[in-house]
Amino acid sequence: MKGTVRRSLWLAVPLALAAPVLAAVTQGGPPPGGNPLALKYSTPNAARGGQLSATCQGCHGAGGVSTNPETPRLAGQVPDYVRFQLAAFRAKLRPSPVMQQVAAHLKDQDIADLAAYFASRPVGPAWKTTDAALRSRGQALFMGGDPARGAIACAVCHGTNGRGENRLGVASVTNQSPGYALDVLHEFKNTPSFGGLPQPEAMRIVLKPLGEDDLKALAAYISSMK
Ligand code: HEC
Ligand code: HEC
Repeated sequence: MKGTVRRSLWLAVPLALAAPVLAAVTQGGPPPGGNPLALKYSTPNAARGGQLSATCQGCHGAGGVSTNPETPRLAGQVPDYVRFQLAAFRAKLRPSPVMQQVAAHLKDQDIADLAAYFASRPVGPAWKTTDAALRSRGQALFMGGDPARGAIACAVCHGTNGRGENRLGVASVTNQSPGYALDVLHEFKNTPSFGGLPQPEAMRIVLKPLGEDDLKALAAYISSMK
């Protein structure tokens, strides 16, 4: 019965459109129709994710501990967050030519397995900071916010250790790569959110009262948490 329904659906799609859709189904890529960020997978297999991650290491580092300040670390990242981001790259909702290409080859199960693998890895070491005063301003903002300006403490959502909260889709930020951290804060500050994420506006609201100096201080702090 299910087979009949599916076949008649395929027949209703003009061939010219169906060909790329079928190619996407066999090579990975989101299923046609529906929410591209809603993935279907069985119990994630971290060991399999580890094997798949061989292709990620050149950029994200061994075990997801990137040593390039511009490329995000994935080690210890919360799995829901990694799944959502990979699905968003694959659906071309989150911009990044490189990652859109990488994610185009991933199936839902691959995404779940990769997320389980990176979540199982220990967070990388702190990056070195050269500006102690900048870091300590970032630490004060992260831990306590700035009530006079209506700035909420980052620790409220990310935790005092910066490790995030999987159930709420809050990313881990602990020892994130400094160049990437500043980039992503700029992105939250300057670009509208893409749909489908659990809390698309959280970071945009949080960063409203903050300026460029604050973002630099915060990037310096989160990249060098102990
Ligand atoms: C050629 C380099 C390259 C390769 C290979 C690569 N990535 Fe990436 N990845 C990046 C860059 C650069 C970014 C930052 C994108 C941005 O926001 O500008 C990124 C971002 C990400 C993010 C979002 C991180 C965050 O904190 O939001 C995830 C998740 C990710 N990559 C997973 C993977 C996985 C899984 C693989 C392997 C299957 C992989 N990447 C392969 C370069 C790469
Ligand atoms: C109200 C909860 C909340 C607060 C407060 C908050 N965040 Fe976030 N943060 C989130 C959520 C949710 C995400 C995932 C956002 C997304 O995917 O759009 C996130 C994502 C991030 C990321 C991106 C991680 C990555 O790997 O790309 C960074 C960096 C970050 N937050 C830093 C901060 C800093 C710095 C502060 C304090 C100024 C802060 N956050 C305060 C909820 C919060």
